[in-house]
Amino acid sequence: MTTPYARIGGEPAVAAIVNRFYDLVEQDAAFADLRALHAADLAAVRHGLTRFLSGWAGGPRDWFDHGPCIMSLHRAFPITPALADQWSAAMTRAIAAQAGLDPQLAQAMAQALDHMAHAMVNLSFTENAA
Ligand code: HEM
Repeated sequence: MTTPYARIGGEPAVAAIVNRFYDLVEQDAAFADLRALHAADLAAVRHGLTRFLSGWAGGPRDWFDHGPCIMSLHRAFPITPALADQWSAAMTRAIAAQAGLDPQLAQAMAQALDHMAHAMVNLSFTENAA
């Protein structure tokens, strides 16, 4: 069976999407709040998200074999619905700009990641902020 990882073009395509995602987060003012939560140097998260998404899409599973649970990792961050929206909007744009991607697969990936981002909303922070 062909994996989504193979269908999108393997490691180079995943890395291109991740780099486009963090470039957008760094450069587009629409994502300023999301940017502000991250470290000054995004090299480590560019690498981490590439490893996570590769395994998630059916490619090499090194993140899942050795890395932390992605949901537990994000419990430490004050993720509000608005921040999840920013993450999802940047990722949807990064995926949509990937040349040669099957539009149905692109949409399915963007939708699944949108759900994941919103599942990371941390209500204790949201309630404290209200
Ligand atoms: C599907 C949704 C998401 C995925 C797959 C994801 C994935 C990741 C990964 C792989 C890392 C790097 C961890 C490492 O290398 O140790 C990371 C870090 C991080 N993520 Fe997410 N993330 C998601 C959504 C969000 C959202 C919605 C926020 C909003 C605040 C967020 C904020 C952060 C922050 C602040 C870090 C740490 C960055 C740093 O220390 O520089 N993430 N994320």
